[in-house]
Amino acid sequence: MNATINLEKKHFPVLLNELISIISPLYGGTFIDCTFGQGGYSQKILENKKNSIIALDRDQGVLKNASIFETKYKNRFKFYNLKFSQLDQVKIKNNKLKGIIFDLGYSLNQIKDNQKGLSFSHTGKLNMKMGINEISANDIISEMNENNLSKVFKVFGDERYSKQIAREIIKQRKQKNIKTEDLVKIIDSVKKFQKTKIHNSTKVFQALRILVNNEISELINSLIFAFKLIPVGGIIVVVTFHSLEDRIAKFFFKHYSEQKNSSRYLPETGASERCFRLINKKPILPTFAEIKQNPPSRSAKLRYGIKNKNNCDFNDFKEKFKNLIDIESLR
Ligand SMILES: C[S@@+](CC[C@H](N)C(=O)[O-])C[C@H]1O[C@@H](n2cnc3c(N)ncnc32)[C@H](O)[C@@H]1O
Repeated sequence: MNATINLEKKHFPVLLNELISIISPLYGGTFIDCTFGQGGYSQKILENKKNSIIALDRDQGVLKNASIFETKYKNRFKFYNLKFSQLDQVKIKNNKLKGIIFDLGYSLNQIKDNQKGLSFSHTGKLNMKMGINEISANDIISEMNENNLSKVFKVFGDERYSKQIAREIIKQRKQKNIKTEDLVKIIDSVKKFQKTKIHNSTKVFQALRILVNNEISELINSLIFAFKLIPVGGIIVVVTFHSLEDRIAKFFFKHYSEQKNSSRYLPETGASERCFRLINKKPILPTFAEIKQNPPSRSAKLRYGIKNKNNCDFNDFKEKFKNLIDIESLR
């Protein structure tokens, strides 16, 4: 979720009605909510008594809410404080499994949390850890070399002034530890003559959040694992909030739902079976009414696919985003 949101607002699950209308034909089994957050999706799915939920979230901040769910829904809800890349640690009866859902990004509670420092509206030590992290934004800003910093800002934030910002960080960190408010000032000083609709710091903060939380490899590895886990006929749903995430989700569903001939001289009958069946080729977007009620939803895109066969080879997928994974491993 975008960090520029109004911190006074309450949390609304994004594209909830659309999600429910897509998954409800599969009701009567287990759904994995990989990003429990404030439980908006889980709650709605559990309203149907035939459903059960296995929920994951990397943030310890959701534990209290998760335990309320465990009491309320007894045998139908189980929570794990894990990253979704650790889904292999969860015991799942996959003959009951109907769907795996990823609602990426951040909840309003996380954005509001000053300690997490996800937003440039906060002050104090740089952090940006969502939960179960190895490094913080402070480690990156204090230790990463100029060239790599610039690469991260450019590729993960599409920041035009990546080089100048990286240079200024290196200069200033010799004098002091750079805090959130200092980073905002550095970016403002580099971009002082630029007039854009978005806040000067949006792109650099997005890049740092992606790196701190390993968002790219988390998503790629987990989508591949989700495919292996779900039975044929089951659904994988992904809600993204920025263009890098969406490129990954789009490629995953589109590339693996196209009919491929092993040879272009073979007739259509020689085409190998597709890994996914797609009902919607285009992403599902929030309505104007939803955006009006909850402005951060404007950047959300929902994509999904129905598993069509076992044993898909995801080498193209990994190869396609190898450059992004390489940048994440610069940490
Ligand atoms: C946008 S919120 C989800 C909101 C939720 N669908 C709801 O209705 O309340 C995203 C949540 O995903 C969690 N998250 C993000 N990346 C994760 C990961 N790699 N593994 C586990 N949880 C993750 C965040 O901690 C956050 O709580």
